[in-house]
Amino acid sequence: MAKKGVGITITQHILQQQRQNPEATGAFTTLLNELIVAAKVISREVNKAGLADILGSTGRINVQDEQVQKLDVFANSVIIERMQHVGQLCCMGSEENADLIEIPSQYPKGPYIIVFDPLDGSSNIDVNVSIGTIFGIYKKTSDETDIEMLMNDVLQPGLNQVAAGYFIYGSSTMMVYTTGNGTGVHGFTLYPSVGEFLLSHENIRIPEKGKIYSVNEGNVAYWDEKTRALVDYFKSRDKDSGRPYTSRYIGSLVADFHRNLLKGGIFMYPADNKDPKKPSGKLRLMVEANPLALVVKEAGGYASNGNGPILEIQPMEFHQRVPLYIGSREDVLIAEEFISGKRKLR
Ligand code: AHG
Ligand code: MN
Ligand code: MN
Repeated sequence: MAKKGVGITITQHILQQQRQNPEATGAFTTLLNELIVAAKVISREVNKAGLADILGSTGRINVQDEQVQKLDVFANSVIIERMQHVGQLCCMGSEENADLIEIPSQYPKGPYIIVFDPLDGSSNIDVNVSIGTIFGIYKKTSDETDIEMLMNDVLQPGLNQVAAGYFIYGSSTMMVYTTGNGTGVHGFTLYPSVGEFLLSHENIRIPEKGKIYSVNEGNVAYWDEKTRALVDYFKSRDKDSGRPYTSRYIGSLVADFHRNLLKGGIFMYPADNKDPKKPSGKLRLMVEANPLALVVKEAGGYASNGNGPILEIQPMEFHQRVPLYIGSREDVLIAEEFISGKRKLR
């Protein structure tokens, strides 16, 4: 029998969440809906990349000391332009901007803060591999309005996020998000013919233990002994614990995370001594680790910096980096045992 209707749209779902969550006002729904419009615009550009002059590097270096891709700049400007007029934000923070982004004076402001990685997996843009957008939403904690002072409102532990999630621009475009507080993790797939994200993965749960490990082993020369012992653990034979695990590494955090969320497994970006300016590894606490840490926690998994929960870290500066071990709870707890030195490879 033909499927009736188109199923549950993301807008319906957010409204349902809003009804269950008394403190979630329509303001929050407006915010998420505008972010979704931005993602649809980015998705369209990603899917026609290669046809238009949207590929390649701008030749500029960003605050992260990294090559800025044209699509990085495009995605960043789309999100900023769309979000700034929503009237619910006091400021924004982007991986691509050194400082906080002000809301222009002509637009009303609100109590929310959005932090984001506009385009994650930049090295994969030109080779047609899945990339994504990562976001986290907080509520301001003070009555501050001055952009210089608002940084204190932005630097909150990830546990305070009122929503977090990501878009993945792959064989299909998906949105995965949570509003925390036990509301679960839900996935929506974009139906281009309808132009809507429809519920496709309700209440995603990550397996307690996986069979996949994801890490860039090209960095082994830059790891300390504990990190090498941990990765060797997942690679060594032990029938009872289902080892060796399978290695899967895409090089786009969102894509590696999404696969492990659905199938189980652990993603690792350890601290390394590759770049003295980045002793804690490459990934950013505010715009990559914290949003995904809330998603994985709500799906029954765990995210650690090797010594404790990512979500409990008190950020000291917006672009700070953090070692990241994220995925199936049992696997991440094993990572903590090795990185904290409690466990050695026999
Ligand atoms: P971004 O494109 O936002 O800079 O993020 C890229 C990150 C992340 O997506 C991925 O896991 C990691 O870079 C891959 O780094 P390596 O190439 O060093 O493995
Ligand atoms: Mn990224
Ligand atoms: Mn990025």
